[in-house]
This record gives sequence, structure tokens and C-alpha cells, in this order.
Amino acid sequence: MKNFQPGPLQKIRDVGVGECVTIGDFVNLYECRIGANTSIGNFVEIGKGVVVGQRCQIRTFAYLCPGVNIEDDVFIGEGTTFINDRFARATNADGTMVTESDWTLRFTTVRQGASIEAKAIIMCDVTIGVGARVKAGSVVTKDVPDGATVAGNPARILA
Ligand SMILES: CC(C)(COP(=O)(O)OP(=O)(O)OC[C@H]1O[C@@H](n2cnc3c(N)ncnc32)[C@H](O)[C@@H]1OP(=O)(O)O)[C@@H](O)C(=O)NCCC(=O)NCCS
Repeated sequence: MKNFQPGPLQKIRDVGVGECVTIGDFVNLYECRIGANTSIGNFVEIGKGVVVGQRCQIRTFAYLCPGVNIEDDVFIGEGTTFINDRFARATNADGTMVTESDWTLRFTTVRQGASIEAKAIIMCDVTIGVGARVKAGSVVTKDVPDGATVAGNPARILA
């Protein structure tokens, strides 16, 4: 992996990118790794520690928060959002602001060849299986088995 020189419309900090990666405009990438031949669309944000595999497509407005691991050949559709906190809150019981030390980072893995379509929300502590498909607009709250197709809110396996 090599360091990437950001273009004028990109905010890119300490990112390792493989060969032939394409990165759109208005993209924020922080301390993450992007595998070879992957495509990052416009307005994408990828957080600290995220690993994106090779030959992935991360489409416009996707948000990959810290704790997300994307294997090779994965499609992440437009506007898809990942979550890394089970119970989000602004302040603690004593009224102080919640900071990084007040919550536990949760992890999510999208396995090889999976396809997550537009505007899905992927909750934390889940694994999207090898070759699985998450249909557009789904809210995934549980693991998706290898090869399964899920849809809906909460997402269910389609027969
Ligand atoms: C993490 C989370 C998905 C599960 O929380 P939980 O309290 O453990 O919920 P449970 O696992 O007991 O789920 C109970 C049921 O509600 C469903 N459910 C839970 N959260 C849901 C959600 N956000 N949307 C739709 N259904 C949901 C579950 O699928 C389950 O349904 P089922 O038993 O019929 O399959 C939920 O708390 C959540 O939505 N967290 C989001 C926090 C957030 O937005 N953070 C933002 C900052 S990263």
C-alpha cells in the first residue's frame, strides 16, 4: 500500500491505498486502508481503522464508520450507512458530553462478494455473509448467512 495524495476536493489523512484505486470528489478518508482496484464514489466518508478490500465499489454518500471491515469484491450501494454503537446518546447521566471513553466500539464485517444495495442501514455486531445480498432500503439488525438475500425493516431472509 502507498500513501495517497489528496485532490483539492478530498480530505484524506493517513490512508493506505492499493494500485489503481479511484477516489471521487468531496471524499473524507481517515486512517483507513483501501485495496487495489477499488472505486470510492463522491461524498463517501470512511473512518479510522476501516479496511476495504480489493475490487470493491463504494458508491456515493456511503458512510463506513470505524469498526467496519469490508472484504474483497463487495458492493456498497449509494447512501448506505453503518453503525458502530448499540445505544447512541449525546450526554452521560451526569450531564457531561459522551466522549470516546464512554462507549464501546462495535464491529461489522461484510464478507467477500456481498452486495449491499442503496440506502441500507447496517447495524453493528453483524456479519454479512459471503455473496449475500441486502436489498435497497433494508435495516440489517442480525447476521446475514452466506448467499442469503434479505430485505425490509428489520431485514428478513427472502424465501
Ligand atoms: C443495536 C440495535 C440494532 C439492536 O438493539 P437491541 O436493543 O439489542 O435490540 P434487539 O436485538 O433486542 O431487537 C429486538 C427486535 O427489534 C428489532 N430491531 C432492533 N433494532 C432495530 C432497528 N433499528 N430497526 C428495526 N428493527 C430493529 C430486532 O431485529 C428484533 O426483532 P426480531 O426479534 O423480530 O428479529 C439497536 O439498538 C439500534 O438500532 N441501535 C442503533 C444505534 C445507533 O443508531 N447508533 C448511531 C451511532 S453509531
